[in-house]
Amino acid sequence: LEARIAKDIEAASDLKTLDDIRVSALGKKGEVSLKMRELGKMSPEERQVMGPALNGLKDRLNTAIEARKTALEDAALDAALATERVDISMPAAREAKGSLHPVAQVMEELAVIFADMGFAVAEGPDVEDDFHNFTALNFPPDHPARDTHDTFFMKAGEGETPKVLRTHTSPVQIRTMMSEKPPLRIIAPGRVYRCDWDQTHTPMFHQVEGLVIDKETHMGHLKGCLIDFIAAFFETDAVEARFRPHHFPFTEPSAEMDVRYERVGDAVKVGSGDKWMEILGCGMVHPNVIRSCGLDPDEYQGFAFGMGVDRLAMLKYGMPDLRPFFEPDSRWLAHYGFSP
Ligand code: PHE
Repeated sequence: LEARIAKDIEAASDLKTLDDIRVSALGKKGEVSLKMRELGKMSPEERQVMGPALNGLKDRLNTAIEARKTALEDAALDAALATERVDISMPAAREAKGSLHPVAQVMEELAVIFADMGFAVAEGPDVEDDFHNFTALNFPPDHPARDTHDTFFMKAGEGETPKVLRTHTSPVQIRTMMSEKPPLRIIAPGRVYRCDWDQTHTPMFHQVEGLVIDKETHMGHLKGCLIDFIAAFFETDAVEARFRPHHFPFTEPSAEMDVRYERVGDAVKVGSGDKWMEILGCGMVHPNVIRSCGLDPDEYQGFAFGMGVDRLAMLKYGMPDLRPFFEPDSRWLAHYGFSP
């Protein structure tokens, strides 16, 4: 009996088989257990011989089973180590690294450039009221920008003046002049909204407003500031800019600034060619605006500008169309060197 069971134990090739052998030998109804039960029917002399013999057998079988179990477990571990070894010669999986969206990237660059010139960052709400977006900025009551054709109006209750999605960042000029004492030097980055949709217009786009209010500020400061800005932004003095007379209700005199560019294939290239892209509006803050903020225009003057961030990104990265800026197309981003 012992020889047969011991042989089975040695031959067991997995833990399940080994356990079955243990049960059939030492389990409640196992062969050895049944023999132990027969001890009761034996004579005392017989029992004295068979008792220790059976107990010895039981111990030896238990020891053999434990030894076999350890051997099987070691073998399993060795096999796993052999097959699951790390192959250090395998090329590592590429880690996808994201980058900022071109608009966010340009926003950050603008904040850094103007911080170097001493401008702090100010903010205002996207949902603006008529006073800050239009009235305080010297818009006459019948100005076309107040038309629903150009401006998104919010629903309003009976007799209430509807709120608007701000059509420019200029209302932050008003908020700043009304809450802080001059001298002021701020930029206000943010989203603005207009009913518009073509290659260079989207219903939501980004502006950075600039405002300087002090006692002896003049047009020369305005031009110098913006020409320095263009050189810093495009990282060269070679990008030509021009000021064109224009009209805004909240500045007098007013101008728009264009930069020279050309189309090369389906890309845009800044600094050469015979095309001009308008990138910002600017001017000397109108006395009525200074007055509507509770300041004395005979004491304080200043200049303001509002630039199109998306336009600047188009020029800097050679993107010919504004619309993909607002579509989640990772191939477009990748094409211009941005990773989604
Ligand atoms: N708010 C004007 C626009 O959106 C830009 C501007 C800002 C012009 C400040 C002059 C001064 O077109």
